Amino acid sequence: MHLSTFFSVSTLPAVLLAASLFASTTHAQDRTTEQGEAQISDPNVECTAYYYAPVGAARYNYPPVWTIATILSNDTAAQAKYNNISSGIPNIAPKGTQPQSETGNFTGFNYSSSDPDCWWTYHQCTTPKYPGLQPDTAGVPEPGTLGYGFDDGPNCSHNAFYDYLSQQNQKATMFYIGSNVMDWPLEAQRGLADGHEICVHTWSHKYMTSLTNEEAFAEFYYSTSTFMQAIQLVVGVTPTCWRPPFGDVDDRIRWIANALGLRTIIWQYDSNDWKVGTDNITTATVDANYQALIQRMQNGTFATSGTIMLTHELNNYTMSEAISFYPQLKAAFKALVPIGVALNITQPYVQPSPILPNFEQYVSGTETLTGSAPGATGSQGTSSGSSTSSQSGAAKSKLATALTMDGAGGLVGAAMFVGGLLRTMM
Ligand SMILES: *[C@@H]1O[C@H](CO)[C@@H](O)[C@H](O)[C@H]1NC(C)=O
Ligand SMILES: *[C@@H]1O[C@H](CO)[C@@H](O)[C@H](O)[C@H]1NC(C)=O
Ligand SMILES: *[C@@H]1O[C@H](CO)[C@@H](O)[C@H](O)[C@H]1NC(C)=O
Ligand SMILES: *[C@@H]1O[C@H](CO)[C@@H](O)[C@H](O)[C@H]1NC(C)=O
Ligand SMILES: *[C@@H]1O[C@H](CO)[C@@H](O)[C@H](O)[C@H]1NC(C)=O
Ligand SMILES: *[C@@H]1O[C@H](CO)[C@@H](O)[C@H](O)[C@H]1NC(C)=O
Ligand SMILES: *[C@@H]1O[C@H](CO)[C@@H](O)[C@H](O)[C@H]1NC(C)=O
Ligand SMILES: *[C@@H]1O[C@H](CO)[C@@H](O)[C@H](O)[C@H]1NC(C)=O
Ligand SMILES: *[C@@H]1O[C@H](CO)[C@@H](O)[C@H](O)[C@H]1NC(C)=O
Ligand SMILES: [Zn+2]
Repeated sequence: MHLSTFFSVSTLPAVLLAASLFASTTHAQDRTTEQGEAQISDPNVECTAYYYAPVGAARYNYPPVWTIATILSNDTAAQAKYNNISSGIPNIAPKGTQPQSETGNFTGFNYSSSDPDCWWTYHQCTTPKYPGLQPDTAGVPEPGTLGYGFDDGPNCSHNAFYDYLSQQNQKATMFYIGSNVMDWPLEAQRGLADGHEICVHTWSHKYMTSLTNEEAFAEFYYSTSTFMQAIQLVVGVTPTCWRPPFGDVDDRIRWIANALGLRTIIWQYDSNDWKVGTDNITTATVDANYQALIQRMQNGTFATSGTIMLTHELNNYTMSEAISFYPQLKAAFKALVPIGVALNITQPYVQPSPILPNFEQYVSGTETLTGSAPGATGSQGTSSGSSTSSQSGAAKSKLATALTMDGAGGLVGAAMFVGGLLRTMM
């Protein structure tokens, strides 16, 4: 994919400067809040870079965007965490030779046909061989159910797509790339404000098995964990799930993810929406892949357990395709739910809120919940089922209060949910 070249480190400050000059000479657009950004409908304006002060202020606590993450030399917290886990990392060598392996060229790498490392890229292995690791989530247990999710966001121009999902009261699992979150923080906030489940998709979207232990750690760490991480910085939560770019995972990478509290989520079918224009993949191929999924639903393939198909928020085409197939998917499947909902994972973040409905609640019309997970240490205590897809303003402000209790990410979270509250009143 072309992601790594979208913003080079050297051009980003210039883009931001140009964007702020541009913004100050145009009118009316509020590009400092989630709800202001969500109202922009021109994709070109949406994709014009903007300056967001909390990210600007913390920028140098993170690696450069779109480059392989490494632990910053002055980041003692990250170093301590890495030192804490490093002796336990399985003794499996990085696959292939950098730099070509970083983008999936493993030419010349000898790998045993016994697949000792459960390397997904080799034969789609999802049941780890290294002791103590859970199998990847590739399908979902609920019959007739599609675990609905999108990779590679937040895309700058996703408002039309997210508006559509909101109109359908449809939630999904969004696998966000840390570098995209840094570039488009208000779009990341929208994902959470809209009630989607947020998982991470690494910092720079490389083939993870090609990276050294420390690089792999940093790719996870700076996109998820502790107080210095991109998604928590802008959306106030720490995710507990990740999806490997290109599916490229083995037991070494699973182990590092697990040590940072991340469950590995893969897929059973690939729409190949991301590949249009390469490898002879055309829009007709992608249509056929969506249609085959629907046929499988109709011919009983998912009668005893549901599935997951790989689809993307990558660009206008992939989002348009998702919209055009949504009615057919919705009609064919018994349930179309975020992956965490299909697994009854009601507390999807390290923080006690926000929470997700369980499967039964979601399919009976409660697509969002307010309150904190049971056993939470914050002042909110427990609550459940108090609201449906049309949350009350009071419920949202209760959530805002809960988020301010959450420590480092709380201030940003509160600001965001104040924004959410305003949005419901307009
Ligand atoms: C690390 O150094 C950079 C400047 O090189 C600074 O901006 C940043 O605040 C420092 N981070 C920490 C965690 O000390
Ligand atoms: C890692 O941290 C945990 C708890 O934070 C601690 O119990 C454990 O002893 C540490 N392990 C190492 C090897 O430092
Ligand atoms: C893959 O890398 C090898 C070097 O190991 C190189 O010779 C080959 O051209 C590369 N293949 C592609 C498709 O880039
Ligand atoms: C890979 O294995 C083949 C056959 O066993 C051997 O000829 C070749 O030299 C090996 N290549 C590397 C890079 O180890
Ligand atoms: C694309 O299709 C052509 C003609 O059918 C074939 O020769 C070529 O190998 C295909 N390329 C790929 C990458 O599949
Ligand atoms: C169901 O449909 C799919 C897609 O057309 C097909 O590949 C599969 O073989 C079919 N399975 C059965 C049991 O008919
Ligand atoms: C987001 O989507 C737009 C519209 O298709 C596209 O031009 C842009 O390259 C995408 N951005 C990223 C980072 O993928
Ligand atoms: C795709 O681009 C067109 C033209 O800019 C726009 O009207 C439409 O809303 C976009 N669709 C999506 C799903 O982003
Ligand atoms: C989810 O919970 C419901 C009860 O609310 C139960 O029937 C179902 O089996 C659970 N599914 C999973 C995957 O745990
Ligand atoms: Zn991806």
